[in-house]
Amino acid sequence: MELFDTIYFKGIVMEEEDFVILEEEIKQRVQELAKEIHEFYSEKKISLIHVIFVLTGAFIFTSDLIRELNSLGIKMKIKEIIVHSYRGMHSGEVLLEDRDFLDLKLNNADVLILDDILDTGKTLHAIKEKILEIYAIKSMEFCVFLKKENNERQVDLDIRFVGFNIPNIFVVGYGLDYNGEYRELPYIINLAQLMKDHE
Ligand code: IMP
Ligand code: MG
Repeated sequence: MELFDTIYFKGIVMEEEDFVILEEEIKQRVQELAKEIHEFYSEKKISLIHVIFVLTGAFIFTSDLIRELNSLGIKMKIKEIIVHSYRGMHSGEVLLEDRDFLDLKLNNADVLILDDILDTGKTLHAIKEKILEIYAIKSMEFCVFLKKENNERQVDLDIRFVGFNIPNIFVVGYGLDYNGEYRELPYIINLAQLMKDHE
């Protein structure tokens, strides 16, 4: 086994090709994240958060997380933003339309942006810039379920809430797709591994 094929995941050394986050682990981590978010905003005495989630990938994570947040008593206003940046497995340019942001009504808001995964950071950076251009917000935080270890990440963003740090591999499941496929999988898995299993 080559050293670079080995990853360190939740205390267990695994080969990258074995990479998987099971349904139960996802569920548990979402609950923990909700607690972290609840604690953060309670400490700041913020009682209403404006949640903006990024379509399409974040839809499953968002629906799980907001119900956990609700059970902790957090009040939310939830809106979506549509961003298309991925074609297949290669990160392309981020296309944002002003009109998609105009009815978000974020003046004076405490904004929490949710996304499925952070790779180059271009998507969340572009969203941040666009919101700051249009609105006078009170605060903005980011929550991503997965954060890819990406040494060539071009944009440095301060992500306050992270579900799992994962290696630099292409993953699918739990809302994440490859050309529209595999979003419905209840677990997260290395695409390469999934392809191999299906051979
Ligand atoms: P970024 O702008 O490079 O950070 O890309 C973030 C977006 O690309 C995410 O919102 C995802 O939709 C998509 N993406 C990045 N990595 C993966 C992956 O491993 N699987 C599926 N989608 C991904
Ligand atoms: Mg996305």
